[in-house]
Amino acid sequence: MIVVRSVSELRRLVSEARHRSERVGLVPTMGAFHEGHVSLMRRAGQECGFVVVSLFVNPAQFNDAGDLARYPRDEAHDASLAEGAGVHVLYAPPVSVVYPDGFTTTVEVRGLSTPLEGVVRGTEHFRGVTTVVAKLFNMVQPDHAFFGQKDAQQALIIRRMVADLDIPVRIEICATVREPDGLAMSSRNALLDAEARARAPVLSRALFAASSLIARGETSASTALDAGRRLLADAGVDTEYFDVVSTVTLTSLERVSGEVLIVIAARVGNVRLIDNVLVHLGENAR
Ligand code: PAF
Repeated sequence: MIVVRSVSELRRLVSEARHRSERVGLVPTMGAFHEGHVSLMRRAGQECGFVVVSLFVNPAQFNDAGDLARYPRDEAHDASLAEGAGVHVLYAPPVSVVYPDGFTTTVEVRGLSTPLEGVVRGTEHFRGVTTVVAKLFNMVQPDHAFFGQKDAQQALIIRRMVADLDIPVRIEICATVREPDGLAMSSRNALLDAEARARAPVLSRALFAASSLIARGETSASTALDAGRRLLADAGVDTEYFDVVSTVTLTSLERVSGEVLIVIAARVGNVRLIDNVLVHLGENAR
């Protein structure tokens, strides 16, 4: 595996892979790798002959300077995990390569960026995500790009951006990887203290309590959510949002029909966690 910091070196390696007729896969990340990232890398390796993982803690998507400063970083550890997962290039550019002096362009997906994370983190959050992902797509020019279902809103927004801007990349959304107690894997889990770590699985328990009712045929969103709310109250966790939303528009639903997304965000201790499950009325949750 080669660690690359410049666009010219990245393009040289990608172009050599193309001359070998290899398909190019990109896994965009902000580092602090866990099993969820590794599963995206492995999936990329199954579908593409040449795998690039980008590692860039993107300042433009943090609305809180403290959150950016606290974001876990360990490039040497990340590099060894990526190498073990069969990655060919770890692209870890400095901020000055991604946002050189005079940089003023942004990419914004209106509508989908506004609810849920947009309310809590501000629409600038997703503007930062879409701007950097559009840049990464132009830098790497991958055939496939891999994202986690855990960031469901982000995944939907990126699909929209790719469709709207005719970016020639296939977006692959991969299932959330969970700890044995159900906690969705996240780089932020490393910041949980022991007490918060013990309480954090209640987010997934609440999601699965609601989704199992819907899977058994419950059509009232509020009845399904109440089952989860009881668990959250018992664990003393206040949510920023816990809702049943449309998988297409992310708008809140009162009546469930077909497939819906159940989303949750909460602070547990000092750490902000998000999670979600997809469930089809009358069928098992994913
Ligand atoms: O999901 C993430 O880690 C980030 O939002 C992404 C897609 C790498 C953009 O910075």
